[in-house]
Amino acid sequence: MSELHDNVSVLISEEELQARITALGRTITEQYAGRELVLVGVLKGCFLFLADLARAIDLPVRIDFLGLSSYSGGTQSSGVVRITNDLSKPIAGLDVLVVEDIIDTGLTMQYLLENLQTRSPASVRICSLLFKPENNRIPVEIDHLGFEIPNKFVVGYGLDYDEKYRNLPYIGVWEG
Ligand code: IMP
Ligand code: MG
Repeated sequence: MSELHDNVSVLISEEELQARITALGRTITEQYAGRELVLVGVLKGCFLFLADLARAIDLPVRIDFLGLSSYSGGTQSSGVVRITNDLSKPIAGLDVLVVEDIIDTGLTMQYLLENLQTRSPASVRICSLLFKPENNRIPVEIDHLGFEIPNKFVVGYGLDYDEKYRNLPYIGVWEG
């Protein structure tokens, strides 16, 4: 294996990810049939998940992105959330599905939901690839969840450690 895979052990394989995303896409397709759905991806971690999820949804969806930052390079949430890039269009009257890589403490999602609600969407729901229940502080209702994972720091498939490993095709535990 190349240097990219050093210090990382596979937690969720590429095949497992793709199978789960196909199933999520089907459920979302049924739930939003006939609605005006906009997928709001939370950058940067969502970029691969959103790319695959969008192709698993058989509806004419809109796609937009929000840049949020809650970490400052380490593996612990700072609790301080910042919008680094706002949506390109209003979401008033639209059904919003927030597409997130992982919900850990829930602080990021709480901030984001409060912010989105002020923009008068028809609805806001959450689709998160991963959830770490052991570290959760703010209970958030995850409408569509890929996988529950143990309280380990994970990388790959969009998730980073210090901006690296996002391009791994699987989710792995970062062993340091
Ligand atoms: P929360 O605010 O604690 O729920 O953290 C949410 C954000 O922290 C996610 O969107 C990720 O960007 C980042 N994050 C949380 N856990 C991990 C992890 O295990 N690996 C990489 N990033 C993580
Ligand atoms: Mg994130």
